[in-house]
Amino acid sequence: MTQAASAVPTGYAARRTFAIISHPDAGKTTLTEKLLLAGGAINMAGAVKARGENRRARSDWMEIEQSRGISVTSSVMTFEREGITFNLLDTPGHSDFSEDTYRTLTAVDSAIMVVDAAKGIESQTRKLFEICRLRDIPIITFVNKVDREGRSPFEVLDEIEEALALTVSPQVWPVGMGTDFQGCYDFAHDEFIYSKARANGPCDSLKKVEGLDDPAFTSMIAPHVLERFAEEAELAREGYASFDADAYRQGHLTPVVFGSALRDFSVDQLLRIVARFAPPPRPQPSDKGPVEPTNDEVSAFVFKVQANMDPNHRDRVAFVRFCSGHFKRGMKLNHVRSGKPLAVNNPIYFFAQERALTEEAFAGDVIGIPNHGTLRVGDTLTEGAAFRFTGLPSFAPEVMRRVRLEDTMRMKQLRRALEDLAEEGLVQVFKPMFGSNWIVGVVGPLQLDVLASRIRGEYKTEIGFEPVPYSTARWISSPDERKLKDFIKDNGMSIALDRDERPVFLPKSDWELRYARERNPDISFDETRELV
Ligand code: G4P
Repeated sequence: MTQAASAVPTGYAARRTFAIISHPDAGKTTLTEKLLLAGGAINMAGAVKARGENRRARSDWMEIEQSRGISVTSSVMTFEREGITFNLLDTPGHSDFSEDTYRTLTAVDSAIMVVDAAKGIESQTRKLFEICRLRDIPIITFVNKVDREGRSPFEVLDEIEEALALTVSPQVWPVGMGTDFQGCYDFAHDEFIYSKARANGPCDSLKKVEGLDDPAFTSMIAPHVLERFAEEAELAREGYASFDADAYRQGHLTPVVFGSALRDFSVDQLLRIVARFAPPPRPQPSDKGPVEPTNDEVSAFVFKVQANMDPNHRDRVAFVRFCSGHFKRGMKLNHVRSGKPLAVNNPIYFFAQERALTEEAFAGDVIGIPNHGTLRVGDTLTEGAAFRFTGLPSFAPEVMRRVRLEDTMRMKQLRRALEDLAEEGLVQVFKPMFGSNWIVGVVGPLQLDVLASRIRGEYKTEIGFEPVPYSTARWISSPDERKLKDFIKDNGMSIALDRDERPVFLPKSDWELRYARERNPDISFDETRELV
């Protein structure tokens, strides 16, 4: 490992592996950048990636996603501060929910939820929050953009409490908002954070005070703002739950920090809460029971695979999250799916924009392993034991299309491209029992554009899409082999195989699916399937 090597603290207990969840535009990118700055991982604001509209203009967005450097940094960013190693895993920024997002959340121990102070809880935030709840991932809330006119802090807190059924515990409160914004007050530490330059300046100062009445603090605030803040602070402290670390870690309570990512207000305070209270690596579910981070034997799972990171080599990088043990470079690990040993000689560590070889890793750490297709999402690596981590599902797609190849000579390239991109989780690929063209399924339509653009860019192959009569896909299975065979025979036109050759039923409508279910009680029609 490069500069970070000497600073690597000992063991898993010093790891905080987390993601940021939010609705597009709430400020995730800006906050990521400021967290990396606070952790000393980057020196220059604006270095993470394009922000806001610039990025989301579709063509720009795809260009950016295709530019390798940015894809690398956007998958995992590691930084260290005061003996804690933070592994920040990025969830894709676009609004289409994808499997990639879900899988990334299987690899974190906690999350920061960014909420726009003016908009409150938005649809994507809610969806991502539900996934966190399913997996018992504790959440710290950052209410962003308090430097702009927004809703009252109480309105935002009440909305979080009601919409997400979560107890809120305000920790850092805005002193005025919008044009009245003067800084933020940290209740737990009695600290006032502000900007020396005042109007519109970045946060650069912190004053430790004796409490809300301390003249050292009150004398700094415009009287009309102070009066309102004093009232609000009293109500906030009395009206909401005080912080309870256990309730937070169990996912019942969220500490709330009001701030401004753009102007750097409350980012340090947020990071301090993550360092102090966010859980270190938690036990991970496996088919042989939970795997404790304290286990001596190394174990890890692949939660993401990225093809063509280096456009000059057809390489893939598997992103691996360690769950136990102390990994050292060069170790031979057991690749459980194949039963073969895998020597990990070139594990990559991601330090903001740099990649470097890492010498070691602990539970909670995420590294990249370059490989040529050996490692797949869902794979387990261990120091010897043959068990499998669970909980990485594939979801039934909601948008289906037939792939049309513009130049039939490029069939081989198309097959390769679909295999690679299915591996990344960008798309699901189905081969119909009858007919020769592949059918692709995605969760949101934007993914189709990305698919075509990447196949053009990375595989020099032009494709188009044609509508298919199918509305979704369901994995079919049955304890009774014969019944499954009969069903497949009777419904041949609506059956396809997924990339692992598992049979899939492609119904034309919800009605057809319901009908098939009723008629075939011995067959399961599954919306998700576990990756193996
Ligand atoms: P995202 O990743 O969640 O999609 O959001 P991103 O950070 O890209 O921020 C979305 C927009 O919100 C950006 O403006 C960004 O500057 C702005 N923003 C983020 N945090 C704050 C904040 O604390 N206060 C204020 N006032 N604005 C904030 P943009 O106009 O789309 O981009 P840009 O031209 O400003 O870069």
